Amino acid sequence: MNSLSRRGFICGSAAVAVLGAVPAVAASGVKTLANGKTEVNLSSNTALGSVGGVVELNIKKYGKVAVVRTSKSVKGFSVLNLSCPHAGVIVKQNSAGWVCSAPPGHGSEFALNGALKVGPATSPLRPIKFTATSKAVTIA
Ligand code: FES
Repeated sequence: MNSLSRRGFICGSAAVAVLGAVPAVAASGVKTLANGKTEVNLSSNTALGSVGGVVELNIKKYGKVAVVRTSKSVKGFSVLNLSCPHAGVIVKQNSAGWVCSAPPGHGSEFALNGALKVGPATSPLRPIKFTATSKAVTIA
């Protein structure tokens, strides 16, 4: 089941906007499952225990990815491809969300949940499908 519903995304967006970002840390407790999906163990990633917490990891299929805690709900996460939708530069986290710094980026800014705030990008950071339980976030 895909937990990235429109309603969940909007609710999570509001929570993150209110609480702000916590600097990302590298994910640990990550394993590739036999079906090719990537599992991020929550007990090994305490940053994801708090709304606004972020961990980053590299997945062969997507490149650099962030898992963002968007609400206290069991399924309250966003998983984002950190490649800027404008021209592919990897965005970096700042106190307001994500920025595609110049150079080599062109200054686009995104909310922590990936929503576009400032162009030249014309779309949000790409969300990646996932499922979540009380123990892990599994990235498709
Ligand atoms: S590549 Fe990010 S703004 Fe151009």
